[in-house]
Amino acid sequence: MVHMVLTRGPEAGAQTFDDYIAEGGYQALKKALAQTPAQVLDAVTASGLRGRGGAGFPCGLKWSLTAKEEATPKYVVANGGEDEPGSLKDHAVMERSPHRLLEGVILAAYAVGASEAIMYINSECEEGIAQVEGAIAAATSAGYLGERILGSSFSISARVHHASQEYVAGEDTSALESIEGRAAKPREKPPFPTTAGLYGKPTVVNNVETFAYVPSIVLNGPELFRSVGTEDNPGTMLFTLPPNLNRPGVVELPVGTSLRELIEVHGGGLASGRAVKAVLPGGPSSGFLKPVDLDVAMDRKALQERGSTLGCGVLRVIEEGQCIVEIVDEIAQFFARESCGQCPTCMMATGTLSRIIGQIQKGSGAQALLDQIPKLGAFAKGKGFCSLITMPIPPLTSAIALFPEDFAYHIEHHVCPMDAVSS
Ligand SMILES: Cc1cc2nc3c(=O)[nH]c(=O)nc-3n(C[C@H](O)[C@H](O)[C@H](O)COP(=O)(O)O)c2cc1C
Repeated sequence: MVHMVLTRGPEAGAQTFDDYIAEGGYQALKKALAQTPAQVLDAVTASGLRGRGGAGFPCGLKWSLTAKEEATPKYVVANGGEDEPGSLKDHAVMERSPHRLLEGVILAAYAVGASEAIMYINSECEEGIAQVEGAIAAATSAGYLGERILGSSFSISARVHHASQEYVAGEDTSALESIEGRAAKPREKPPFPTTAGLYGKPTVVNNVETFAYVPSIVLNGPELFRSVGTEDNPGTMLFTLPPNLNRPGVVELPVGTSLRELIEVHGGGLASGRAVKAVLPGGPSSGFLKPVDLDVAMDRKALQERGSTLGCGVLRVIEEGQCIVEIVDEIAQFFARESCGQCPTCMMATGTLSRIIGQIQKGSGAQALLDQIPKLGAFAKGKGFCSLITMPIPPLTSAIALFPEDFAYHIEHHVCPMDAVSS
């Protein structure tokens, strides 16, 4: 089993400075400081590492955009907002591998020429905040952070910023707004943070998991990273297995591991013993898959071909006997509630979608309402400052296409089959 990020099991507790040194910690930084920033950047680009925050953007390409900017100071922001429902993997990184994360952030700063790093952590993740603050203090005492690191000309400071808990606060420009002291709401783009980010200066924002792969890539070379995962999306990935499996929690596995292996082998199958009815493989904005798709590789391309997405690797497994309309009602309400209110079209689109599904769920909606959903999605696309505006569309349209009988029951019987069973 390859572990590049979670090198310690949950039972081992948080990684201390001494633990990390014993597993080769900060050796990548020593190696990097003997190289040029461009060489470090080249290694990350050659590794093929893609961002693990949901969009899968190539990490080396993002860093190169900031590296080539002349404006200073430059910043690095580690995004530990993690408000994706059910996701625990960034908590795991911050709580269990704080030094690995920090070393990755320092390496990124070196590669792009940044002088300040901000660890943006969900304020609800108190253990993660404590661990990362402890790691900053220990690394500073040891000379791996601060002025003229290890006698080089490279200086970098790091601090923790407590992020608010709204879903949209995890969007990268919302994070920048929050760090600048304003409400965590997305900015209009372009410009993108790589050129005009924190305080208008070039800024790299990556997910915390993304940074945590960097020490291994720099120390061991990009080939080892590429030796697992897929050609398009190399390396391992952290997956969050849901509470209704026998073994829920965070697992690190090669990208491309099959959905079936995740659920049946690593998750131990459904605790209820029921059959799988559907899976959301990449969080609430991904498209539903049916049991016939269980052998799909958990990779962005393979999932896209099936009309779904990898997202940040949080699984939701729907059991036989659950009603899909009830699930999508919850999803539609979530996005309507989390729309931050700054883009009128987003408020209108997410609000209308939740009203449509709410009506169907309550048994008072007709098929004609469902036909509005793809039109609404096409109308809303690109009309918000962030992508939340269209996030409910894939789960809703895939649910309607794959489980028409669940919707038909609500429309014909004016009641949810779950309520009909319990009454
Ligand atoms: C509504 C919304 C919420 C998001 N929440 C998070 C989050 O909690 N954590 C995260 O890393 N990225 C989140 N993102 C994605 C970030 O905007 C950004 O793409 C990511 O931090 C970049 O890091 P990566 O390239 O390493 O994936 C969110 C995006 C949107 C539109």
